[in-house]
Amino acid sequence: MAIDHQRFIDDLHSLRAFGASGVGKGVIRPAYSEADIAARKWLAGRMTEAGLTPHFDPVGNLFGLADGPSLLMGSHSDSQPEGGWLDGALGVIAALEIARSSDRPISVVSFQDEEGRFGVTTGSAVWSGGLPLDKADALTDGAGIRFDAARGAMADLSQGFVDPNRFSGFIEMHIEQGPTLDASDETIGVVTDIVGIRDMTISFEGQQNHAGTTPMHLRRDAFQALSLFNTQLNDRFRNVVTPQTVWTIGRVDLHPNASSIVPGRVRFTMQWRDGDADRLARMEEIIRVTAQEVADDLGTNLDYGTLLGLEPVAMDLTLRTALETGAEQVAPGKWRRMPSGALHDATNVSRLMPVAMLFVPSINGISHAFAEDTDEADLIAGLNVLDHAVRSLSG
Ligand code: GLV
Ligand code: MN
Ligand code: MN
Repeated sequence: MAIDHQRFIDDLHSLRAFGASGVGKGVIRPAYSEADIAARKWLAGRMTEAGLTPHFDPVGNLFGLADGPSLLMGSHSDSQPEGGWLDGALGVIAALEIARSSDRPISVVSFQDEEGRFGVTTGSAVWSGGLPLDKADALTDGAGIRFDAARGAMADLSQGFVDPNRFSGFIEMHIEQGPTLDASDETIGVVTDIVGIRDMTISFEGQQNHAGTTPMHLRRDAFQALSLFNTQLNDRFRNVVTPQTVWTIGRVDLHPNASSIVPGRVRFTMQWRDGDADRLARMEEIIRVTAQEVADDLGTNLDYGTLLGLEPVAMDLTLRTALETGAEQVAPGKWRRMPSGALHDATNVSRLMPVAMLFVPSINGISHAFAEDTDEADLIAGLNVLDHAVRSLSG
């Protein structure tokens, strides 16, 4: 059966309706939110219509299982707190369309909490064995809600973990989420490697006090600690990083966050990414030494949360070659091989089976924002590449 481009586009827009932000095409569909669970139930229905057997596991990963051995395809359908309509959703809906049209058995997956409300790609990390379930259960989100409490909202759907041995490999299509393809007017990126990541929470605890009466030299101000830490860190990283290395302080909770109070505590996320595991380790050392020096200088306590991480991984050559051949057929001369600076469930799945990934352009390189979008022609080109690749693999 031929792939149906209109059905694919229609399904993408149907999924967007779950948690639609009302700003552009954006969505608010974080893991285990009402919108996320409703979207997963809708997806399960689409899987049934496609002849697949829907299966929720204990952490809320949703599989649409083909009978017998199959190739697994998909991504995730949870979003960032302010997310785009294609991040993850594209790979899930593309997989569904390929499963409906392919002659070979294709299973579909939507992993849970790829966006890291609790950890780093939490659902696929647990399924792959990279993150033990009891360790995941103790993780908390920014509001202090535990992972085990959140996944409890889907407990009535849980059917146990799926045996990964039923799958021969995993292919994930995704938007690039960066500027490379858009800037070079190319249609397809075939991923060579996915970078590694480290992520942890850091807290400085000083002394909460009156902002009018406390002399500057007596203050133990938690915000000043964060500010000094950030400045010193950027300076010290300079000798270690490459232009591809990135680091982010993305969430800051300042307590009590009031204009007339010297802040007593700051808790913030520190995340860093690079393709070289040794560099990630060197950066961790610099972070810890710098934080300790700042705490000593400003008289604050220093505390760390759980360090989470994923190692850099290379894509499987056989699956990658099938995508490259498909890219050359669909977009001759308008595709490239490229690393992924964003994380993906494929990193975790590579512990279990061969994996490969395909990118389509992100307009202006924007993602993790309501403004995220991709030209419809590029979405369809990506689907066509997947179709060619899967057909060549079954031959
Ligand atoms: C995944 O969304 C990432 O943060 O790269
Ligand atoms: Mn994603
Ligand atoms: Mn994302």
